[in-house]
Parts: sequence; C-alpha cells; structure tokens
Amino acid sequence: MLAIYPGSFDPVTNGHLDIIERAAKVFGKVIVAVTPNPLKATLFTVEERLEMLREITSKWPNVEVDSFTGLLVKYAKSRGADVIVKGLRAVSDFEFEFEMALMNRRLEPSIETVFMMTGAEYSYLSSSIVKEVVSLGGSAEGLVPEAVIGRIIEKLRGKGHGIAR
Ligand code: PNS
Repeated sequence: MLAIYPGSFDPVTNGHLDIIERAAKVFGKVIVAVTPNPLKATLFTVEERLEMLREITSKWPNVEVDSFTGLLVKYAKSRGADVIVKGLRAVSDFEFEFEMALMNRRLEPSIETVFMMTGAEYSYLSSSIVKEVVSLGGSAEGLVPEAVIGRIIEKLRGKGHGIAR
C-alpha cells in the first residue's frame, strides 16, 4: 500500500521522523509530501525543507520525499495513494485532524486517513515550538535531527541572542 504523509515540515522534527519510521514499517511505500501553506509564514523554503527531509530519510529505501501545491487529496490521487497518514500527538490534535479527515473523505472517498500515535516523548514537540526555543537562545538538541540543528541556528542567527546548540 502507498501512503502519503503530508505536512509543512518547517522544519522536520524528531516527532515527524518517528511517524515516518512507523509508517515505513506498516506501508509498502511512504511519500513524505511537503506543501507550502499560504496561511503560514515559514522559516525554510520548500526546496530547503525537501533537502533536509531527503537527507534524513535516505536510510529508508521505501520513503520518497516530494512536494505538492493545492488539495492534498488531488495530489494523493495523482500519485495513486491508498492512504493519508497523519500523526497524533495529543487529544488537542484530534478535533482539527478529524475535521480534515472528514473533509478529505468527502472530497475523495477512495482515500482513507490513518492516524498514527507519536512516541510519548514527542507529544509536546512541534516545529513552531522548536523555532521559538531556538530563536530565544535555547537548545534544539534531541528535538530535531542533527542535520537540522545547524540550519535552524543559521536561519535564526541575528534574530535572537546567544543561540545555543
Ligand atoms: O504540518 P501541518 O502544517 O500541520 O500540515 C497541514 C497539512 C499540510 C496536512 C494541511 O494543511 C493540508 O492538507 N494542506 C493541503 C491543502 C488541503 O488539501 N486542504 C484541505 C484539507 S481538509
């Protein structure tokens, strides 16, 4: 089965990576799909996000990294996907994810949304909180992949003081 794991990934966190690894064990192939969310101001360009994801997921042969614009279900259908994978961190994620899953089903009934629970150690983790912590001088060690830490610091340097690794 082919699964699409969509998101902003601005940047990819260890929580995202945990879901990618779990999905890659369950599904024959996983496409990690980056989308530029016009409603969100992003730190990294789509190209930069793709580059980081490709670097980090290269160890899994059944994981592909791609980007799309427009409706997720249209992209999923065009790639021949069976499933959309979403990660759930906490009950607070549920309401919005439920809304999106039902809207996506209405738009494209042939594609199922499957929810996977992140490891408990990542339940508080989001790209936004990592960016905030780093911009205020805190460390991103253990929150995002090693390859991403330097890139966040580089991007945010000048905007914060005394940024730590
Ligand atoms: O990482 P994010 O920002 O939480 O991911 C949200 C994402 C990209 C999965 C969602 O915004 C999405 O599906 N965007 C694609 C546009 C779309 O299809 N919108 C209707 C969803 S019901």
